[in-house]
Amino acid sequence: MAANENGDCMNEETQTGIIPREYGQPWPDYELLDAGDGKKLERWGKVITIRPEIQANFKPGWSYAQWQDMAHWEFEEQSSTQGNWKNIKPHAPEQWLISYGNLNFGLKLTKFKHVGLFPEQQANWRFIKERVNVGQKILNLFAYTGAASLVARDNEAEVAHVDSVRQMITWANENMERTTAGMQDDCMDAGGRATQGAVAEVEQCMEQLPRNLSGIKWVLEDALKFAQRELKRGNKYDGIIMDPPAWGLGVKGEKWKLENHLSGLIETAYGLMNPGAFLILNTYSPKVELADLAASAGQYFSANQLEIKQLWMPTKTGKELYCGNLLRAIK
Ligand SMILES: C[S@@+](CC[C@H](N)C(=O)[O-])C[C@H]1O[C@@H](n2cnc3c(N)ncnc32)[C@H](O)[C@@H]1O
Repeated sequence: MAANENGDCMNEETQTGIIPREYGQPWPDYELLDAGDGKKLERWGKVITIRPEIQANFKPGWSYAQWQDMAHWEFEEQSSTQGNWKNIKPHAPEQWLISYGNLNFGLKLTKFKHVGLFPEQQANWRFIKERVNVGQKILNLFAYTGAASLVARDNEAEVAHVDSVRQMITWANENMERTTAGMQDDCMDAGGRATQGAVAEVEQCMEQLPRNLSGIKWVLEDALKFAQRELKRGNKYDGIIMDPPAWGLGVKGEKWKLENHLSGLIETAYGLMNPGAFLILNTYSPKVELADLAASAGQYFSANQLEIKQLWMPTKTGKELYCGNLLRAIK
């Protein structure tokens, strides 16, 4: 994929034709309402935010005045990595909960403009939900607040969740606890509704829960270091999910850039995969082009084992937003 002079990725045709796209879809608690003029308007449950979006280099569907009427919070950038949230509506919460199916997530306004979920990843949550089976071993690297880990664990997989930032591991663990508590409440409600055999019904429902979500292995470590150690130990996985940031920090705060580690990440992941296992790799870095992704993955996977796509999200106003590159491979 080409980049313009600002380093922004642009949609284009390759020699082999149009680059395939996969779309993340809205769900009851999230929708990308509109995008344009370098910003996006999103609804997270009852809370509506405006955030900067470098890829929204087109005209929005609605006016900025309409956006302001709807939004509770707007993120104002102070630097390329940090900023502040401007309150637009009185009494708007700074922390709140949303659901994705039976999974619950705590959201909050961070100074890095994120709120705790990358909604375009819904495309991968769908894939994981369809593909992961009971007892399979799944490794989630750069695992953030745990959405992919919870989707896999909800399918009763054995999940290792790796992130080098302690606060992220805590946030993901809280999401697991919120989800388990929500499921327990559902069991109580189901029992309460039943006229006969309520206790047995609640007990049976509750019995299934701990196996479902607790038991995720939380690993506070550099993703590549952990993966390389797993390789040395001879451990294998049925699915590997990687959502590395453009730049990251190790546990001791050491800096790294994705373009320097891409090849090592794919090589290590390949070594850890059982035959038939899947790999999901997302990249957001303008320095990692689709062609780089294809070339790195092509060293290990044959063309018929690979899917290389762009990830997009539709807006309610009929626009489409490019959200990064996506590689899926089956060994
Ligand atoms: C882009 S986010 C992942 C988003 C996530 N996949 C999702 O959609 O929910 C990147 C995550 O990688 C973590 N991270 C950054 N550098 C890391 C490293 N060297 N090793 C492990 N995790 C790292 C960050 O703490 C952050 O949680």
